[in-house]
Amino acid sequence: MSISRRVLLQGAAACGAAAALSLRQAAAAKPQKAIVVFYSRSGNTEALVRMIAERTGVEVLRIDVKEPYAASYSDMTDVARDEVRRKARRELKTQIPDLTDFDVVFLGSPYWWGSLSVPMATFLMDHNFAGKTIYPFITSGSSSPQGALDRIRELCPQAKMGEHFYVPGAEAADAGDDVAAWLKKIGF
Ligand SMILES: Cc1cc2nc3c(=O)[nH]c(=O)nc-3n(C[C@H](O)[C@H](O)[C@H](O)COP(=O)(O)O)c2cc1C
Repeated sequence: MSISRRVLLQGAAACGAAAALSLRQAAAAKPQKAIVVFYSRSGNTEALVRMIAERTGVEVLRIDVKEPYAASYSDMTDVARDEVRRKARRELKTQIPDLTDFDVVFLGSPYWWGSLSVPMATFLMDHNFAGKTIYPFITSGSSSPQGALDRIRELCPQAKMGEHFYVPGAEAADAGDDVAAWLKKIGF
């Protein structure tokens, strides 16, 4: 083979490798499409939603239930406890958009009776999160959020679980710096 033909072939191979590399780089650089989905009964988790939305500009979807719980905590908490224990559903009023194109779901919920709030659990029962990354953010009175995180895993076995954010509900309104640090850490 002449030297000039060999150089040409080597050049073509190098071009092919460069093209493959730039395709991989393009795929890696593809911006992730994200949405915040949350349920909040008394506003603590919602305070975090505002911070996440302000910083990231991502779309927000609030989960509402068809039959609202009683307004007072003492009137609704036994009902909620029974639903949590039975792993029951609480039907949703919210129309859920097509979530196929979203790569990332920020999932916000209060912690209820050792687990996830029932409206959020109902939402997770109805949707497939295979291949998506879930970043949970949870508020509670004082309990560790572990039971809520375990329930998310149980309901979304094929999702990737990203790092979660937790703050006691009473401190949610002042959690802006911590939310910003968490978002930065997870690449938002
Ligand atoms: C039905 C119900 C059950 C709860 N169970 C717990 C619990 O087991 N441990 C805890 O620390 N807080 C518990 N809480 C307190 C909430 O997790 C906390 O107030 C949370 O910040 C409320 O969020 P929200 O304002 O977004 O609804 C419960 C609240 C409700 C309404």
